[in-house]
Amino acid sequence: MGVDDEVQVAKLPAAIRTRRLTLRRVRLEDADDVFSFACEDIWMRLLPDARQPYQRRDAERWVARRRLADWRTEPTWAIEIDGRMVGWVGLNIEPEHAQAELSYAMRPDLRGQGLTTEAVRAVVDRVFLDTQLGRVWGRVDPPNIASVRVLEKAGMQREAVMRRAFVRQGELIDLAVYGMLRTDWMPRALDL
Ligand SMILES: CC(C)(COP(=O)(O)OP(=O)(O)OC[C@H]1O[C@@H](n2cnc3c(N)ncnc32)[C@H](O)[C@@H]1OP(=O)(O)O)[C@@H](O)C(=O)NCCC(=O)NCCS
Repeated sequence: MGVDDEVQVAKLPAAIRTRRLTLRRVRLEDADDVFSFACEDIWMRLLPDARQPYQRRDAERWVARRRLADWRTEPTWAIEIDGRMVGWVGLNIEPEHAQAELSYAMRPDLRGQGLTTEAVRAVVDRVFLDTQLGRVWGRVDPPNIASVRVLEKAGMQREAVMRRAFVRQGELIDLAVYGMLRTDWMPRALDL
């Protein structure tokens, strides 16, 4: 390995402020907020422990897992507005490959206002400013246009399509890979 793990990932901040949002670590007390919107279908596939019907203890398990995960490799920020958790952005960092995979979600009634884009951009900025990681990427179900747009607006480009790479509700689906390198991010960084 060329670069020391700690140097690469140790400095991601637990709290990030943007124009409209506070991003901060997930707390156990967020379980009620998560439960209030996580029963939506599309969330289910994003929450590894989720069962149908989604129950409060599933939300408790989710926040506990996110909270207990190693911040250096699996940080999750709750997106907070007016003191309530309304969504999240997470990273799965592979220090040995100097890259991080993004995941995110927003509660249904607040979508379409650019809030997830604002949160994702802020996290991407922190990755490139505070770590030595060289690449941020995401996987998306291509018909999930809203998610595709979030990745594109964060500065990513489509790099590949993994055919029949994911099982969702018993069906094999394709996944598109979007990614950006530090050099793709730099022009945007000049506007920070
Ligand atoms: C994907 C998701 C996080 C987007 O959240 P959001 O806060 O609405 O995102 P933004 O408002 O920042 O951007 C949404 C973009 O998608 C577009 N969009 C939203 N719904 C759309 C639709 N049904 N068809 C086409 N475009 C759509 C919006 O117009 C916007 O793009 P624009 O700025 O070019 O107009 C949200 O839909 C969600 O939580 N989905 C379920 C979880 C999920 O799919 N997570 C991603 C897993 S890869």
